[in-house]
Amino acid sequence: MKIFLIGFMGSGKTSLGKKLAGAMQVQFFDLDQKIEEYTAKDIPTIFQQQGEGVFRQIEAEILRKTIDLNQHFVLSCGGGTPCFHQNMEYMKSLGTTIFLDVDQEILLGRLRKNNSGRPLITKMSDDEMKRFIEGQISERRKYYLQSKYILNANNPTIAQILKLLNYPEK
Ligand code: S3P
Repeated sequence: MKIFLIGFMGSGKTSLGKKLAGAMQVQFFDLDQKIEEYTAKDIPTIFQQQGEGVFRQIEAEILRKTIDLNQHFVLSCGGGTPCFHQNMEYMKSLGTTIFLDVDQEILLGRLRKNNSGRPLITKMSDDEMKRFIEGQISERRKYYLQSKYILNANNPTIAQILKLLNYPEK
């Protein structure tokens, strides 16, 4: 069982992923964390020193390495992961993709409160962030919507996801 959680920054991929992996008793991977482990750099430093293009190459490579670590896992992607280097096709060919579809207003509220560690949106004013998020979501949605399941994720529960996956609740 390979589950990929997909969605924009702030959509809850990591916190939901951890809970889901716990409920399914499989390993949890967070792709950003794996990138930081493998490169021994944090994400903002990679962006700053090497730029987004190199980050996307590293991201694609470490996605593939991480997938090879285990047969069964829940993996939380970064917000841009599905949109580069055929990553979406790759994940879809191997497992189950779930898009956490969170309303833009909610995302904005969350990201305004916490944008640390997210180089694409640090140092933006509220207005800039709003415009940036709207623009990015409209570009990225076509990738996100290729997911097998689309979950209205404003208030998702683990039980709801397990049901979606036809996974027997214990
Ligand atoms: C990014 C999202 C981040 C991280 C990087 C780029 C993006 O992950 O991969 O800062 O392009 O949306 P989260 O979605 O976990 O914040």
